[in-house]
Amino acid sequence: MKTTIKDLDVSGKKVLVRVDYNVPMKDGVITDDTRIKESIPTLMYLLDHGAKLILMSHLGRPEGVDKKYSLAPVAKRLKDLLNVKVVMSKDVVGPDTQAKVQKLDKGILLLENLRFEKGEETNDPKFVNKLAKLGDIYVNDAFGTAHRKHASTYGVAEKLPNAIGFLMEKEVSSINRAFNHAERPFTAILGGAKVSDKLKIIYCLLERVDNIIIGGAMAYTFLKAKGYSVANSKVEDDMVQDAANILAIADDKKVKVYLPCDHIVTTKIDDYSNVEYIKTANIPEGYIGMDIGKKTIKQYSKVIKKSKTILWNGPMGMFEVDKFANGTKQICKAVAKSKGYSIVGGGDSASAVVKFGYKNKISHISTGGGASLKMFEGKELPALQVITDKN
Ligand code: 3PG
Repeated sequence: MKTTIKDLDVSGKKVLVRVDYNVPMKDGVITDDTRIKESIPTLMYLLDHGAKLILMSHLGRPEGVDKKYSLAPVAKRLKDLLNVKVVMSKDVVGPDTQAKVQKLDKGILLLENLRFEKGEETNDPKFVNKLAKLGDIYVNDAFGTAHRKHASTYGVAEKLPNAIGFLMEKEVSSINRAFNHAERPFTAILGGAKVSDKLKIIYCLLERVDNIIIGGAMAYTFLKAKGYSVANSKVEDDMVQDAANILAIADDKKVKVYLPCDHIVTTKIDDYSNVEYIKTANIPEGYIGMDIGKKTIKQYSKVIKKSKTILWNGPMGMFEVDKFANGTKQICKAVAKSKGYSIVGGGDSASAVVKFGYKNKISHISTGGGASLKMFEGKELPALQVITDKN
């Protein structure tokens, strides 16, 4: 068990809080503020207990200082959501931050994008020291970045009394519940483009689950491994052998692997005027598989209905395009209707659940794509590992 903010006396202290405000933006406007909202319980708790908050986050992957990646829109959104004074510093550990930390009386100071400093991603000791000097206590509530061993997620934690926040606690316990204490049948739903991205997870899941449902472009690599024709569908040829190995291991371990038995297809990759339904698992010459078909949806939904634990990562088709959204939408619906404990990994599947209006029907939607995948691989997260254990 890790130390949490409830275990620390934060009154009158400067608390450095690592949050993950790496939120999607379009033309400088935040398009999804879930990560900001999810950090609020921790921030309110700390403020209510008399702490002075210094928040730090990264945004995007800038190379050095780049205004496009400023956290200024986040500071504004945070202020609107919290109704508390939020001051933003113009640098990360420079003179502006130093001056604003000195003046910080109550309320929140948000540092500029951590990745404007080179030392962040390299966990550089000099940068770590500068960050650590800003606060008395370190709190990590950035689950989405917990798989990174950076200055703000690891180095600073080694220098200060530390704890995790409520979001980190909720994420880790929810994923652990599904992963390590799963009620059976346990079904994993995997989608998205690449088998190679999910290879380690699949091997790990084969030890734990009863069913693996496969959709998205990665399904075509598996279908090819089974000898079906996939025509012009996206296939990772160098993964076909791995897919065949996975199917053989699954057979051996009595894990049922479900693959699409019908498809929604098109003839051109960027021109969706000719969309057709193919009622067999074999895709005829000239076609590209884009989504699962209605028979597949029915079969997958049946498996999901009987499952007591469901873990979902990756869409079933190209759901951003309406003509190929039905597979993902119906799987969302099936997971939402299920009485089992359901976890949706971050990224595209989390966006799909929100887009199709099933957000409140899922037991836990993770705010971390990469971090939740690491946990599904059975790996320890560095940012969590470095936090002091509770005695
Ligand atoms: C995420 O969005 O997955 C996290 O914020 C981590 O971002 P990164 O992959 O750029 O480290």
